[in-house]
Amino acid sequence: MSGYLLEMKGIAKKFGGVPALDGIDLTLKAGECIGLCGENGAGKSTLMKVLSAVYPHGTWDGQILMDGKPLEAQSIRESEAAGIVIIHQELMLVPELSVTENLFLGNEITLPGGRMDYPAMNQRAEALLKELNLRDVNVVLPVSTYGGGHQQLIEIAKALNKNARVLILDEPSSSLTANEIKVLLDIVRGLKAKGVACVYISHKLDEVEAICDTIVVIRDGKHIATTPMDRMDVNQIIAQMVGREMSQMYPTLERTPGEVVFEARNVTCYDLDRPERKKVDNVSFSLRRGEILGIAGLVGAGRTELVTALFGAYPGRCEAEVWLEGQRIDSRTPLKAIRCGLALVPEDRKHHGIVRDMDVGQNITLSVLGRFARFTRIDREAELAVVSEEIARLGLKTASPFLSITSLSGGNQQKAVLSKMLLTKPKVLILDEPTRGVDVGAKFEIYKLMLELAAQGMSIIMVSSELAEVLGVSDRVLVMGEGKLRGDFVNDNLSQETVLAAALTH
Ligand SMILES: Nc1ncnc2c1ncn2[C@@H]1O[C@H](COP(=O)(O)OP(=O)(O)OP(=O)(O)O)[C@@H](O)[C@H]1O
Ligand SMILES: [Mg+2]
Repeated sequence: MSGYLLEMKGIAKKFGGVPALDGIDLTLKAGECIGLCGENGAGKSTLMKVLSAVYPHGTWDGQILMDGKPLEAQSIRESEAAGIVIIHQELMLVPELSVTENLFLGNEITLPGGRMDYPAMNQRAEALLKELNLRDVNVVLPVSTYGGGHQQLIEIAKALNKNARVLILDEPSSSLTANEIKVLLDIVRGLKAKGVACVYISHKLDEVEAICDTIVVIRDGKHIATTPMDRMDVNQIIAQMVGREMSQMYPTLERTPGEVVFEARNVTCYDLDRPERKKVDNVSFSLRRGEILGIAGLVGAGRTELVTALFGAYPGRCEAEVWLEGQRIDSRTPLKAIRCGLALVPEDRKHHGIVRDMDVGQNITLSVLGRFARFTRIDREAELAVVSEEIARLGLKTASPFLSITSLSGGNQQKAVLSKMLLTKPKVLILDEPTRGVDVGAKFEIYKLMLELAAQGMSIIMVSSELAEVLGVSDRVLVMGEGKLRGDFVNDNLSQETVLAAALTH
């Protein structure tokens, strides 16, 4: 016996002739947690889709052994039967089904005779959510009632319900709050203690450092190194990922913000389900030319609601007075907002950012298609030239602009959405969680781009849950809490403690 619970040997996988994985080996022992690290598009999710039979046996080369015996799963169901459970990077919940129905999808508890045992499932659902410290969820309501962070925890609960021997967590924490992440890490620790083997994928390397025993780094589909965590630190992981030392995480560029160009006055947003409740409560702020304004706050503080309201994209009732260059503007729909010179890169890329049926290029030029219109047709050549330029400018990794947008890795989809909005040449660019799921190297590139745009006079609003990032790139920081503005600080060596204290005070 090898002593390994799981062995992947020489895994290779191509998409349309282009290799995504090129002979990767990975082993797991019971109770071990592996941190699978690599840049956007390195092949992490693909490798885990091979393991969990999203790509069935026969669609890739190499071998998987479980308990020393070949595993040739033809379907996710078969790999789950072998004890391999995956929590996907993109949420897989069915919005219309209840929380309970989602948790038990394909795994239902039935009564003798075959009818669903809803009381038993609801009870088990509640217990599972309690384990995740998720107390304010009504399990009989549709899962779409709840926001991104909650949905992510529900997705995790769904996996915990399956008694995994190997649990794969692909970016499980990207929309979780700091507290929720703590709970998640504790759960992973508990599973490890019970002998469950885990593969943890995250671009938040402090989590990887906290939870993983072994680090496996892949780059361009190739295995780079396997190292025990106690023999390396975060900087060494980064160096292996990007293939060079990265001395700084945040670029710098000398700039001086100019006069006030944008003002939001008395923004109030009402809760969709409970219209008497305010998600944003009378918030006003201003923004200077070339200024980068960070908006910090805990998840649920109303930051996303605030910026979607400014962009005319808030789905419920809201009031907002928006001023640009001294004029009151009408930005009550996204189209109007774009025409006035606003742009928003939304937080929820899957639902509001990309058009799944279109290719990479079409997604990028979507917002400026009119520019390529020649009478009744579209000048495809001119369009392609712009697309190629954009792909190069953001270092977007795709084999071709004609591939489906959904074939891009998560981080590269994010770059495509950013590029789409930049093409509108906005005066005010609003970024909601712009680096979610983006690797360290590409983050640096995005920050650099933000600084350059700001230096050219673009004003930028950035909502981010990563406090380090807010402090790393912003000139000024607004802090929100429970829908209200709780602080407005010039970022002159502003500390995390100051911002957190403002977010938490009432
Ligand atoms: N269905 C597909 N068709 C074509 N190419 C694909 C497909 N799925 C993935 N790829 C390509 O395979 C490579 C690896 O993608 P993968 O999603 O595994 O990256 P990743 O390491 O998970 O990145 P991220 O950190 O951004 O999530 C990328 O170049 C991607 O474009
Ligand atoms: Mg991925």
